[in-house]
Amino acid sequence: MTEALKQLRHYPDPGYGELRHALARHHQLSADWVLPGNGAAELLTWAARDLAEAGTDCQLLTPAFGDYGRALAAFDVTVRPWPLSLTGMDSPDLAASWLEPKATSILINNPHNPTGRLFTLAELEPLLERFATVIVDEAFMDFMPPDRQPSLIGHLGRYPNLVVLRSLTKFYTLPGLRIGYALGHPDRLGRWQRWRDPWPVNALAAAAAIAAVGDTAFQRCTWEWLPSARESLFSGLQAIAGLSPLLGAANYLLVKTTTPAPLLQERLLRRHQVLIRDCVSFAELGVNYFRVAVRTEAENDRLLTALRQGIAV
Ligand SMILES: Cc1ncc(COP(=O)(O)O)c(C=O)c1O
Repeated sequence: MTEALKQLRHYPDPGYGELRHALARHHQLSADWVLPGNGAAELLTWAARDLAEAGTDCQLLTPAFGDYGRALAAFDVTVRPWPLSLTGMDSPDLAASWLEPKATSILINNPHNPTGRLFTLAELEPLLERFATVIVDEAFMDFMPPDRQPSLIGHLGRYPNLVVLRSLTKFYTLPGLRIGYALGHPDRLGRWQRWRDPWPVNALAAAAAIAAVGDTAFQRCTWEWLPSARESLFSGLQAIAGLSPLLGAANYLLVKTTTPAPLLQERLLRRHQVLIRDCVSFAELGVNYFRVAVRTEAENDRLLTALRQGIAV
């Protein structure tokens, strides 16, 4: 990024050639199947406009990341909720009664935020046949090594109705930089490019993204660290009376709590300067859930101590 400061004297390449090639190489695709954006959030906007132009109702797996609602509402897309069971972590069932016949598009998230649920390719493949447009947000997929990722990227060539969204926010801890990308049929991505501002990705974000996807040492280090750190945080949470964590595949865990989450949040913040994410913004979850990040062993221990004391009060 220091190197790239020199580029700030110029507009970025509006075609983002170097960035698109780096991302395409990373996924073994050709560059015209890649569209970088100002975070996955920007690309959700164009996905929503696409759905609106096709006049489809959108089946939305819920609970859902809040920004989906923002994007879909911006273009008056009718949302048909598809509730995910939080107890059994069941598979999406295409025969289920709540599957709305009028919904010809679907927006799904894998791994799923906030549950951490990872859908298999066998569970997702029928969606590609059932829906005219399938948007899969894989913002957290990088947390698994490539040979373990049930990503639909490998299906793009066969399914022009599929769009995969990726983000550098989560895996590379770069939320302030705003960089994500869409992978999809060049005709669709070309349409999105024509709709939007000419330079949605700044030169520093483009340079950082090229460096990040090439940083295989960092990627390996995260893949080696995460599973055991998550497992030990999961066991620690499970051992606290009143807490029931859900086993997830991402870098966070959703936890069911008998003590209302906003109360617990305030206690932890006041007494331990630890902030847990309450899930009040997810209508289906309310006050009985919170979400925590998997962090270093010392930080996870600090969180567990704080929770133990916060619950015992
Ligand atoms: C599921 C999911 N998708 C996308 C995003 C947004 O990603 P970005 O920062 O790339 O816009 C988030 C952020 O919380 C998220 O949880």
